[in-house]
Amino acid sequence: MPNTRANQPVSNSPPARAIVAMVGLILLGPFLHLQSIHVAHHWRLAPAGVTGETAMVVSAHFLASEIGRDVLRDGGNAFDAAVAVNFALSVVYQQAGNIGGGGFMVCRLANGERGALDFRERAPLKASRDMYLDDAGEVIKGLSLKGHYAVGVPGSVAGMAALHARFGSQPWDALVRPSIHLAQNGFDLTPKAARMFNRYQQDFRDVNRFSPAVIKPEGDWAAGERIRFPDLARTLDRIAMQGRAGFYQGETAKLIAEEMMAGGGLVSLQDLAAYKAVWRQPIEFSYRGHRVISMPPPSSGGVALAQLLQGAETYDIGAMGHNSAAHIHLMTELERRVYADRATHMGDTDFVDVDIAGLTDKAYIAARNGDISMRVKTPSEQVKPGLVRVIESVETTHFSIVDPQGNAVSITTTLNGNFGAKLVVQGGGFFLNNEMDDFSIKPGHANQFGLVGDDKNAIAPGKRMLSSMTPTIVEKDGELKIVLGTPGGATIITSVFQTLMNLIDFDMSAQQAVHARKSHSQWQPDFVMLEKGTMSLSNLRGLLAREHNLYPWPQFKYALGRVEAIVVRDNGTLEGAADASRGEDDRAVGY
Ligand code: GLY
Repeated sequence: MPNTRANQPVSNSPPARAIVAMVGLILLGPFLHLQSIHVAHHWRLAPAGVTGETAMVVSAHFLASEIGRDVLRDGGNAFDAAVAVNFALSVVYQQAGNIGGGGFMVCRLANGERGALDFRERAPLKASRDMYLDDAGEVIKGLSLKGHYAVGVPGSVAGMAALHARFGSQPWDALVRPSIHLAQNGFDLTPKAARMFNRYQQDFRDVNRFSPAVIKPEGDWAAGERIRFPDLARTLDRIAMQGRAGFYQGETAKLIAEEMMAGGGLVSLQDLAAYKAVWRQPIEFSYRGHRVISMPPPSSGGVALAQLLQGAETYDIGAMGHNSAAHIHLMTELERRVYADRATHMGDTDFVDVDIAGLTDKAYIAARNGDISMRVKTPSEQVKPGLVRVIESVETTHFSIVDPQGNAVSITTTLNGNFGAKLVVQGGGFFLNNEMDDFSIKPGHANQFGLVGDDKNAIAPGKRMLSSMTPTIVEKDGELKIVLGTPGGATIITSVFQTLMNLIDFDMSAQQAVHARKSHSQWQPDFVMLEKGTMSLSNLRGLLAREHNLYPWPQFKYALGRVEAIVVRDNGTLEGAADASRGEDDRAVGY
C-alpha cells in the first residue's frame, strides 16, 4: 500500500495564505461580477435529454451519432455502432476524432460481462527518456506538442479491429463505409467546424510540407461550406478492405513511415507492425449503492475516480448543496490529494508497478483524506501561479452507446491537442497525434494540461503515456444505469466525478447533470478553476474564506469537460444527454 503521507502538501505560513487570498480577491473583482449575474442553479433550466425507448448514441457530432443510430436500427449491436461512430468522427470531427490517435473503451454487455480495451498510443521504439530535452537538460519548447517528433504510434484502428473481432456482429467494411462516403463526397461545415479549421490554419501551414485538404488556399472556411477529404477516403477504404492491416501495413503504413522520415519523426514500419490493442481488467468500486466500472492504467482515470468518489462517499454531499462553498471546497481537497498521487504513482503497468489495489483501498483513501478541514484549504506542496497558462486545448472526444439488447459502450479517444501534432500524413489525409506530451518529459515539468509527473510516466520505447481519459459505466442493483465520459485533458476525471455526484447525490436528470457548471483543481497549480456561472457570490466568498486561489476558467465558452452521457431511467427508457452548452455540434440520438 502506498505511504499515505507521500505527497502530502506542506502548509504555507498563515500570513502568506492571507496575502494569497487577498490577491485572489482583488484579481477576481471583474470575475465576481460575472459570477453574480449567472448564478448557480441554472442547471435546473436545462432542457430534458433525448428519450430513447431502447437505443441511444451520444457523440460530439450529430452526423456520427446518426451513423451509429443507423447501425443499431439495421440490427448492429453497440460494438458495431461504436466502430462506425469512431470512423465517422475521424472525418467530421477531426480535431479529436481520429485514426491517427488512440483511446480507451469500457463496456458492459447485456449479460453483465464487462471489459476494458486499451488502444492508447505507444512511444516509438526509437524514443528515449530525454528526447525532448536539450544538452542542458531543459525542455525544448514545443517539441513534444507540434510536428513529427511529437507523434506516438497510433492505436485507434487496432482498437476498433480488436473490439469488432471480439464483439462485432456486422461486417467490418459495412461499418467503415459511411465514413468513406462522408470523406469522399464531403459534408457541410458547421459553424464550430469552420471556426476550428480557421483557428489552426497557420499551424497547419507551419507543420505540413504540402497543402492538406484542411488548408483553405484563400480566405476562411465558412459555415455551410462543403469540404471533402479524398486522401482520407482512400485510407478508410484500405481499412475497410483489409482491416487493421489496411492501416498498420501496406500503403498506409508506408505513407506514415515516409511522413515521419521526411520530418524527423520516429514512428517506423516496425512500430506500426508491432502495435497491439490490449484488453485490461476494468477498475471497479462501489459508490452509494452503485457499482462503478472504469478504465485502468495506462489511464489514471479509473483509479482517480475511485479515489475521488470513495473519498466523497464519507461526506453527505447532497446536504452540502450543489456547487456550494462546502461542496467545491471538499472536491478541491479530494482532488488535491488524488492528483498528487497521480503525478507520483501512476504510469503504464506494462512497464512500471502501480499499486492499484492500494491506491483504491478505502482505508488508504480515508487515511489520505484524514487531515481535510472543512474550514480551510490545505495548500498544495508548491503554489506556482505562474504555471497556469491558457490551456491550448482540451480536445479529446467521448461517445456513449446503448443498444436495444442492453449492451453499453463508453469510448474516449483523442489526438491529444486540437488536431494533435497538426500534422497530416501526406497521401493518407489524416491527422497524427501529439500524445508524446502526455509523458512526463522531464520530472516536475508541467505538460500542456499543467499536469506534472515523475519516473513512472517517463518515456521508454514502446511504453504508453499516462492518460486522464475516464470512460465509465455504472450499474445499480446489478443493472445498467449510467454510461458516460468526456474530453478535457486533466479535467476529464473531475468532470466525470462531478457528473456522477450530480446524478447520484443531487438527483439531477442526465441533461441537468451534464449541463451543470463545473469546477476543477489538480494539486498543482494550486488553484480552483471555475466555469462562468458555477457559484453564487456568497459561495465564492465562502471559498475565499477557506483561502482558496480562484481561477476563472480561461475558455469561458468552451468550459470544463463536455460530458456525453446516457442514463437508464427508472421506467427503463434511456435519457441521452449531449453537452450542447459547451459544443454546439454534440448530439444525442435515440429511438
Ligand atoms: N491526451 C489527454 C489524455 O489522454 O488524458
